Amino acid sequence: MRHFISTRELSAASIYDILNTAEKLRDSSESFSQQYFAANLFFEPSTRTKMSFLVAEKKLGMAPLDFQPESSSMSKGESLYDTARTYEAIGADLLIVRHLSDRWYDELIGKTSIPIINAGAGKGEHPTQSMLDLLTIYQEFGSFENLEVVIAGDIKHSRVARSNAYALTTLGAKVYFTAAPGFEDDSLDFPYVAIEEACAMCDVLMLLRIQHERHVTQTCDTFSYLANYGLTMEREQKMTDHAIILHPAPVNRDVEIDTRLVECTRSRIFKQMENGVYARMAVISILLKEWGVNHENVAEKCQ
Ligand code: CP
Repeated sequence: MRHFISTRELSAASIYDILNTAEKLRDSSESFSQQYFAANLFFEPSTRTKMSFLVAEKKLGMAPLDFQPESSSMSKGESLYDTARTYEAIGADLLIVRHLSDRWYDELIGKTSIPIINAGAGKGEHPTQSMLDLLTIYQEFGSFENLEVVIAGDIKHSRVARSNAYALTTLGAKVYFTAAPGFEDDSLDFPYVAIEEACAMCDVLMLLRIQHERHVTQTCDTFSYLANYGLTMEREQKMTDHAIILHPAPVNRDVEIDTRLVECTRSRIFKQMENGVYARMAVISILLKEWGVNHENVAEKCQ
């Protein structure tokens, strides 16, 4: 694994390596000297992904390098490529990028001498979100084989849906979608079910945020969305006892999910955020080792 861009590039063995490494790192309490630099290039807003990368880097003993697009030389017209190469030239050992383009990485892959992690690419992929989602499911069920996972919501504009659909399929889960009219994605070949059926059948209900910022021609009536397509109290009652609820967050409360269910017994939404730190630590550790960064502490943490 040279970069971390798409879950389509991950074998089942490499996904399990990330999940098991994350579990080990969660139990580790060693402290490390700051020797390696991670450039966190976020061109889109983020709370969870950016902050959990910063915590992950600090826990691994790395020094995070911050970046604000509006106060950087990108405001003078500098390209993503020149920005990335600049961070590399001044000593970054790792590039972590979130960008509104679906394929921002095309202008960087093969042109840097340091690993690149996709922290969210437009409507493309969000592979580290997928790893923390998988870790949460793994902790719950211990296996993915034949698990019924329904991904529900704005499939068409969701990088989370794409990354999870690919990775869950690789791991042997059965993936279904449910979506409001216009939110389906023809480029993804998975069966659709109605929300009522989804709630009754699933082991995992993965809700998605309505991605208003990516809607070009379409608007969404959020007033009626919960009743028609979201997780209401009545639908939650139809779920089997062991079924869990995931949502990548931020949550549109009372739109995708009744606000009373956000922290209900079967919700793992805040657990997902906690797992984000360890999943991202695992991805960073595995990539740095792959690139020959053999800092003894980083290496020890990944044993
Ligand atoms: N889930 C997720 O990517 O959240 P942020 O946009 O806050 O990083």
